[in-house]
Amino acid sequence: MAELVIPSLPVETRCPPFPLRQYNGFWIPEPILPGVTAARARFEPRPSDVFLASVPKSGTTWLKALALATLNRAKHPPCDPDHPLRHRNPHDCVEFLEAPVAWSKDGGGGVFAALPSPRVIATHLPCSLLPGGITEEEGSGGRIVYICRDPKDTLVSTWLYIKKMVAFAGARANDDDGKLLVPRPTSFTIEEAFELFCDGRCVCGPQWRHVGGYWEESKRRPEKVLFLRYEEMLEDPMGNVRKLAEFMGCAFSAEEEEAGVVRHIVELCSLDVLKDMEVNKSGTQGYVKNESFFRKGVAGDWSNHMTPAMAARLDKIVKDELHGSGFRF
Ligand code: A3P
Repeated sequence: MAELVIPSLPVETRCPPFPLRQYNGFWIPEPILPGVTAARARFEPRPSDVFLASVPKSGTTWLKALALATLNRAKHPPCDPDHPLRHRNPHDCVEFLEAPVAWSKDGGGGVFAALPSPRVIATHLPCSLLPGGITEEEGSGGRIVYICRDPKDTLVSTWLYIKKMVAFAGARANDDDGKLLVPRPTSFTIEEAFELFCDGRCVCGPQWRHVGGYWEESKRRPEKVLFLRYEEMLEDPMGNVRKLAEFMGCAFSAEEEEAGVVRHIVELCSLDVLKDMEVNKSGTQGYVKNESFFRKGVAGDWSNHMTPAMAARLDKIVKDELHGSGFRF
């Protein structure tokens, strides 16, 4: 992989609020790039690690909550009134591997070295940009759970989220570093977001290339990569949580099934319950309000914002790009 010289990389400034840089075929937010290199150089995977990978707005928050609640259910039963998810936003419970702040907190393995096993770590990075130890053939670098979503719903969710993020950032005098935001647009229309998305220009896009990379990895190493679909999780959340638990090496026992633990985890992590937690109504992630992570949470909301012609065009792009991969949305 070529040495990273950020100013020399192609830039895209029309996707607020961060400039994107094209790096190894993907559009990565410029502020994230130092975290990408730090992770690639210094991250030491453990066999028990669980990585939660996704394109933004594909169900990351939900997956973080479900994985955390499932893996830690012995210590934190889902009905516990003191459960971490009742006091903290899922993004405060599970850190992103590429978050530069995670690497600035100490000189060695970032905040991750201090975490007890099994660690749950999220990432929006494409498979090809993960630290090598995670994806090696014989690697002992843990397991990956990937969540994908219909690109049309991902686009609409992204567009609405960006508008909220821009409005929130705009309401503050300065962003945290004072230099990270691109000029704030007076408007950001669905048509603008659509054209950029179709051109692959969105966070960690092209979305279909991101999905295709993990799809291939899940075919190559099915015991190490679990490929989930947002729409299937909506249809059968309990079945998918059982699948997730089994994959993470902590399948539910007959006693747990009997006691309704799976149902309790699904309820705790449901959109309505999380949305209603005080921390998710009033807290922030610094750059965005926590409430912005919880919207409708349905399949097919794209039809309320995109025309049939836009949908057909995006579907065709994705179908053509993924032709021959064996993957279909
Ligand atoms: P919508 O904007 O379509 O409603 P991410 O977590 O990757 O940022 O994705 C955000 C999307 O997931 C949003 O979709 C949001 O509403 C939905 N979401 C968040 N929490 C959820 C949950 N607990 N269950 C189902 N969907 C959820």
